[in-house]
Amino acid sequence: MVISVRIQIMIIDKTVVDCTICMESLCGPSGYKGPGVGGISRAESVGRLSQCGHQYHLQCLVAMYNNGNKDGSLQCPTCKTIYGVKTGNQPPGKMEYHVIPHSLPGHPDCKTIRIIYNIPPGIQGPEHPNPGKPFTARGFPRHCYLPDSEKGRLVLKLLLVAWDRRLIFSVGTSSTTGETDTVIWNEVHHKTEFGSNLTGHGYPDSGHLDNVLEELRAQGITEEECLRD
Ligand code: APR
Ligand code: ZN
Repeated sequence: MVISVRIQIMIIDKTVVDCTICMESLCGPSGYKGPGVGGISRAESVGRLSQCGHQYHLQCLVAMYNNGNKDGSLQCPTCKTIYGVKTGNQPPGKMEYHVIPHSLPGHPDCKTIRIIYNIPPGIQGPEHPNPGKPFTARGFPRHCYLPDSEKGRLVLKLLLVAWDRRLIFSVGTSSTTGETDTVIWNEVHHKTEFGSNLTGHGYPDSGHLDNVLEELRAQGITEEECLRD
């Protein structure tokens, strides 16, 4: 097994708290009994994440990493601090956008950005819940709307980064329809209604852009970070 996460983890001796991954004491061995961690470290080894300081059994951290999409990033399960660049498992598809000359309710002074997402059905890869099994894709193309304001354009810029990192959609169970093995929105909310708000996913919603910026931040996508790239 190869792990290429460049995360500074400090090996420490003893502490009184529990490992919140396996719920066993950090004074004793890791409670993880699955495969793939034996050669990594002793079951008693404890690691401290460099930025946030949260501590876990090293083997629990490795098991958590191996259960994810092994993209070289790790998210602290306690405080969600992201180490490395987080990516998701969004299937292949297309993201397009253009400006339409109409205003959204609540944004009378600007035009509107329309984003069009298109993802076809396909076969699940190793990063999906049921590798090898088909997944469906309902309601595509999905049309989404942002005000063409300074903040709206910032959100668009960050959504383009989120798309490249495969974080806009994922494959799983739709909470709306209950269908399994289907393409679903990930944790970044989109407005899919233009002139009305029948579903609750429409305008006006004065907090929407700030909420999305916060949701993008939780995925590790911020304006500051994009300026660095
Ligand atoms: N528009 C925007 N966001 C939505 C919608 C919608 N119509 N319905 C649900 N969401 C949000 C939910 O609030 C939740 O946070 O997406 C997240 C995941 O919900 P699921 O129901 O699991 O997502 P999904 O099955 O992808 O979406 C259901 O959204 O865009 C439409 O055509 C799509 O009808 C489908 C619906
Ligand atoms: Zn933490």
